[in-house]
Amino acid sequence: MAEPASMRDRLGRPAGVLRLSLTARCNLACPYCCPDSQEPPELLSLAERLQLVAAAVDLGFGTLRLTGGEPLLNRDLEALIARLQALRDPRGRPSGPLQDIALTTNGALLGAERARALKAAGLDRITISLDGSDGESVARMAGLLAGPSAGEALLAKVLAAVEHARNAGFDPAAGQLKLNAVIARGRNDDQLLPLAALARRLGVELRLIEFMDVGNRNGWNLEQVVPAAEMLQRIGAVWPLEPVGRASGATANRWRYRNGDGDGGGQLAVVASISAPFCGDCNRLRITADGVAYTCLFASSGFDLKPWLRPRPDPAGLDAALRGLWRERRDRYSEERGPEAGAADRTTPAAAHAEMAYLGG
Ligand code: GTP
Ligand code: 5AD
Ligand code: SF4
Repeated sequence: MAEPASMRDRLGRPAGVLRLSLTARCNLACPYCCPDSQEPPELLSLAERLQLVAAAVDLGFGTLRLTGGEPLLNRDLEALIARLQALRDPRGRPSGPLQDIALTTNGALLGAERARALKAAGLDRITISLDGSDGESVARMAGLLAGPSAGEALLAKVLAAVEHARNAGFDPAAGQLKLNAVIARGRNDDQLLPLAALARRLGVELRLIEFMDVGNRNGWNLEQVVPAAEMLQRIGAVWPLEPVGRASGATANRWRYRNGDGDGGGQLAVVASISAPFCGDCNRLRITADGVAYTCLFASSGFDLKPWLRPRPDPAGLDAALRGLWRERRDRYSEERGPEAGAADRTTPAAAHAEMAYLGG
């Protein structure tokens, strides 16, 4: 029997966002993420994913973000979203219904048909990754070995994807269509202004993400991090900015162009997990494509939920397992190794955390 919505973890943080990864595979090979070419062996079925989301919604996770790897590689994506619509019904849900379904994608497979199908299935928001504004930088950031011409082709696809999403009804002015750019010094920090200009022209909010030490194989070090303050200073020197703030539980700190148009392109955001960690109100639970729950992006181990899904579903057991997991949660990795925790801890990544493409960001 579900308890009221006030489930809190050890640090008093409520449940908020379930990030569900649908695949560990990706059609790109971005060096800051380094995806696997293979799936983990025991992928969940559509029915098992529905059970997980239903259980999470009943514990107060009102937002679902679908991730990968690259989630558009999952052929069940639209079917899953369509089936999830039933969870929007508030009746019989003391912790509230499912309110918001979002997707994080690299956009390469987001054609017009797919964008329309996602909208029709009931997806609310799409965030598309784009780390450069020309063929050379896009190729470098996406790990395209064929070089600038391949980068140009990908850039063209991603720009088309933005238009397909917009035409399908994802409205950037309502926060339903955004761009994510991971910025790494010496790799694509020369793209800050061109990306901001591009996003403004497209009328889409750009979110600049500090390169994070997720996983063990992206060669992260602190020198490659461009702090959010520097990104904002460099862009604000050209287009003056004013703060909007960070909503409770959100990753992004938002800014408004003083001479903005009021559409999505009038906004800029930074995700400052290295220079200004936001663990204090982190409300996210992650579940991998093979049904392992992680209560922090930087956790070294997860909690396998399959025993409550197979061989047959055990909703009461699943509810208790998830509830216990959240109640015991005390993760605050980014804050613990932040400036207060000692600068020495921040120069190199910690040992063995799970990989980004497996966790879904
Ligand atoms: P919105 O709902 O639109 O605000 O999306 P989001 O920022 O929650 O999700 P998105 O998938 O766009 O992620 C943006 C960046 O934030 C990615 O680099 C994620 O890896 C990172 N991110 C998401 N959640 C967390 C988190 O809990 N901790 C840290 N450190 N980074 C996170
Ligand atoms: N640091 C910051 N963001 C990352 N992403 C992938 N790897 C990293 C990293 N090492 C981003 C992707 C996508 C989101 C899910 O996470 O670009 O926008
Ligand atoms: Fe949440 Fe862990 Fe990220 Fe902190 S480091 S915001 S606890 S996922």
